[in-house]
Amino acid sequence: MITNTTSLSLTSALMAVFMLVSSPVLAENPVHERHELMESVGKSMKAIGKMMQDFYDAKVAEDNMKIINAVPDKFKTMFPKGSDKDPKSAAAPKIWTERAGFDKILESLKADTAAAIAVAQKGDAGEAEFGGAFGKVAKNCKSCHQTYKLKKEKH
Ligand code: HEC
Repeated sequence: MITNTTSLSLTSALMAVFMLVSSPVLAENPVHERHELMESVGKSMKAIGKMMQDFYDAKVAEDNMKIINAVPDKFKTMFPKGSDKDPKSAAAPKIWTERAGFDKILESLKADTAAAIAVAQKGDAGEAEFGGAFGKVAKNCKSCHQTYKLKKEKH
């Protein structure tokens, strides 16, 4: 009995320490994670674009749309107060002041990628339809970036 209680309290003490150590790190500097996530979105869109110029490959379409489909739920949690002050971030202040619009575009990105996945899952039969689905997904990039992403100088 004593051993059980001891090990239990030791476990909760360890968990408390773990939470203290791990959560502020993520919460304070999610800028790096935001970049990584958006870069993966950019890579997937490029992979799909390239595939569409070569030969239609439903597997490439599906895999990459799935990567993007998983992004909105994560991205949503990466804008805690204070993370708008990082000079390396291109996140616009409106994310913090006009949040509803931002979330709405993320929902739309999720729905449009889900629709594109469904088309891709038709295999070759979905080829003609996929272009339109891809276009809808791409519209979300622009509509969010023009309001919620700062324009940085072009390289
Ligand atoms: C709901 C808003 C939103 C949507 C939708 C969105 N982005 Fe972004 N994107 C951002 C924000 C905000 C940043 C800047 C993040 C930062 O610097 O902290 C960004 C940054 C980027 C970057 C730069 C990454 C880096 O290294 O800093 C790329 C590339 C990118 N987005 C591609 C895309 C593509 C492609 C799509 C569409 C499939 C897309 N984004 C959809 C908000 C969005």
